[in-house]
Amino acid sequence: MRGVVLAGGLGSRLDPLTRIVNKHLLPVYDKPMIYYPIQALVNAGIEDIMIVTGGRNAGDFLRLLGNGKDFGLKHLDYTYQEGEGGIAEALGLTEHFSRGEKLCVILGDNIIEKNIAAAAQDFRRQEQGAKILLKKVPDPERFGVPKIDGERILSIEEKPDLPQSNYAVTGIYMYDDTVFDKIEGLVRSARGELEITDVNNRFIAEGTMTWGELAGWWTDAGTVESLRRASNMVAETGANLI
Ligand code: DAU
Repeated sequence: MRGVVLAGGLGSRLDPLTRIVNKHLLPVYDKPMIYYPIQALVNAGIEDIMIVTGGRNAGDFLRLLGNGKDFGLKHLDYTYQEGEGGIAEALGLTEHFSRGEKLCVILGDNIIEKNIAAAAQDFRRQEQGAKILLKKVPDPERFGVPKIDGERILSIEEKPDLPQSNYAVTGIYMYDDTVFDKIEGLVRSARGELEITDVNNRFIAEGTMTWGELAGWWTDAGTVESLRRASNMVAETGANLI
């Protein structure tokens, strides 16, 4: 299985912190933010990893990460997203890297306490389709929110005013390579982005989406408040525990 870390976009919700430094290179406790999602993939046994970067100082990623020695990797792949056309657009840029393989995608600002090794193993065995990881949160309206009936996800709504459950769709997505066909047919949302929620809804409509519940704490780090929370939680318990 291939791994993809999405670290494009401009991080404007963190301005002025992100005026000079790319959001994913900001410190979360004792490491740059992007270290956490990369480590999450490595802990799931994924060693072929592509990083999608963007913004003004994309070269900083290469200078920081090189070939991934800090993670025990021999090689890292990189690609560049111009502008911030959405998570699905960023993922589409990795097609040449992932075609013919399953892939595990993680957003560059998502940090987890534990690991996704078991879920990744389940998905390796899943015949086709997609798998997402959900987490109960007090503020679902900030996220993609699933409507669930028993074991089945009926649909996902992006940042709904009236959430249909207390779950957030975390930024960890596993796909077969039909994801690239699904991205191809997307239309831009009101905010001008190709939405990952639309991609997930296509897998749901096809009947090939499974889900699991993420163990341990999970947070994004894309706002001033969640960045502070992420640093506190990493300081208190550590992240990416095996
Ligand atoms: O964190 C989980 C949430 O992430 C999900 O629940 C939502 O369904 C999903 O849409 C996303 O919501 P956000 O509004 O928090 O996403 P944001 O725009 O902050 O982007 C998250 C990361 O995705 C960002 O750190 C880098 C990557 N990204 C984002 C955009 C818009 C890109 O690589 N390129 C992009 O153009």
